[in-house]
Amino acid sequence: MTDKKLKLVVSTGAGISAESGISTFRDADGLWENYDVMEVASHDGFERNPALIHEFYNARRAALATVEPNNAHILLKKLEEFFDVYVITQNVDDLHERAGSSKVLHLHGELLKMRAMDDENLVFQVTPQTVTTPQTRIDGHLVRPHIVFFQEAVPNIEPAMELVEQADVFVIVGTSLAVYPAAGLLHYVRSGIPVYYIDPRPSAVPRGVTVIRKNATEGMEELYRILLKNMAGK
Ligand code: APR
Repeated sequence: MTDKKLKLVVSTGAGISAESGISTFRDADGLWENYDVMEVASHDGFERNPALIHEFYNARRAALATVEPNNAHILLKKLEEFFDVYVITQNVDDLHERAGSSKVLHLHGELLKMRAMDDENLVFQVTPQTVTTPQTRIDGHLVRPHIVFFQEAVPNIEPAMELVEQADVFVIVGTSLAVYPAAGLLHYVRSGIPVYYIDPRPSAVPRGVTVIRKNATEGMEELYRILLKNMAGK
């Protein structure tokens, strides 16, 4: 009878992809320093100027061809050897998938997917080379980026909350905890469950959270050692 693996739930933000060369949103020179978020990432902005939003996501999608997962993504995959690992990510890149993580839940959508304007459940896989305009059709359907814009619902937040409620260990990596409902996941952890937060410039978190004030790659190396040591001690 093999021991059941503990459930390790990890919530990641733009910071985990920073060392792969994908800029974050709210750091100095972040994406929202160079673009008006309400113009390029909100529902109203999409209604006003869909061509601009298609262009914005075409550029972010194309950039995926130039980046690779970093060691933080890779260590999360390696932890699957010892834990039942679930990644909940605010990121729309595919670096967790490319690192080999087998359970990835995207809260804010995915750059490599488009969805039909007339049926939100009709989702199409695209490539970094895909370029779309408001006139682009896939299988006859006009399409939009499969991204959750500001002012839109986050359909995957319910399954994400359930995962956090089941976590035996909860880890937060590289998020400013500025955007809800993603930032609220921390409050769904059962009491007594260890929580770690890896970030070089961490936002305020409740007492009891172990903060690892490091970049994702170094922080994940430290966490990897801690988790395996704790496991050996069990
Ligand atoms: N390693 C780890 N964390 C890092 C690194 C790094 N190398 N570099 C920066 N960070 C941290 C920053 O300190 C910050 O806490 O990553 C976090 C990035 O915060 P944001 O730019 O706000 O990104 P995120 O929290 O993912 O934004 C949430 O906002 O605009 C929306 O939809 C967008 O999903 C995004 C959401």
